[in-house]
Amino acid sequence: MGANFITGTGTDIGKTWLCCALLRHWRAAGLRPAALKPVLSGFDPDAPQASDAGQLLAALEQPVDDRALDAIAPWRYAAALSPDMAAAQERRQVPFDALVAFTRRAAQARGGPLLVEGVGGVMVPLDQVHTVRDWIAAGGLPAVLVAGSYLGSMSHTLTALESLIRADAPVAAIVVNESEGSPVPIELTLDSLLRHVAGIPLVGIRRADPAPGVARLAALLA
Ligand SMILES: Nc1ncnc2c1ncn2[C@@H]1O[C@H](COP(=O)(O)OP(=O)(O)OP(=O)(O)O)[C@@H](O)[C@H]1O
Ligand SMILES: [Mg+2]
Repeated sequence: MGANFITGTGTDIGKTWLCCALLRHWRAAGLRPAALKPVLSGFDPDAPQASDAGQLLAALEQPVDDRALDAIAPWRYAAALSPDMAAAQERRQVPFDALVAFTRRAAQARGGPLLVEGVGGVMVPLDQVHTVRDWIAAGGLPAVLVAGSYLGSMSHTLTALESLIRADAPVAAIVVNESEGSPVPIELTLDSLLRHVAGIPLVGIRRADPAPGVARLAALLA
């Protein structure tokens, strides 16, 4: 069973949506998946269900309580800022070494497919030194790079991919999650990307019919 790091070209690209879809797919197939959102900013303790961790727990059909949140999202910050900024507002710091150890431990302990959702995009700072890319490289889990099909996404996707490759971070797949209301047909984005990402599996997810793309990715990762 695989363990993967779900990253993206940026925030709001569909990482949590995709994780939840994969978790539901695997559960329906009788597997016992797990998910982590270790670093969570913009966390409102009065509305934990709305958080990424809350959504992942709902997809796993687990209660959203403090115990579950501590288990899957131990580093939570209130400000809806990048983790370095959100932590600094609370006079805290994201503990990079502990974060990497937590990720590696979870990957070893899993009994089914594991998804670790990152935060924002590949190059989001975690502290004054490290970015999400460093977390991916040190954690050792193959990354799934979630991208969009909006105008401008090609450059964002290839730039994010280059930065992962440069850090020797393994890339398991690139997912083009169709952007809402985009003038660019997702097929053209997939065709064009295919010519630039030789050797890396490419999966398209269409908003009107997401199930085939989710199933393909689920098979690829599990
Ligand atoms: N394929 C899709 N079909 C329908 N809605 C989607 C799809 N992908 C994403 N969304 C919606 O887009 C919004 C942003 O997605 P999501 O929260 O998954 O992004 P994210 O990459 O996890 O963001 P963050 O960086 O904050 O973690 C959500 O409201 C989500 O439900
Ligand atoms: Mg998310």
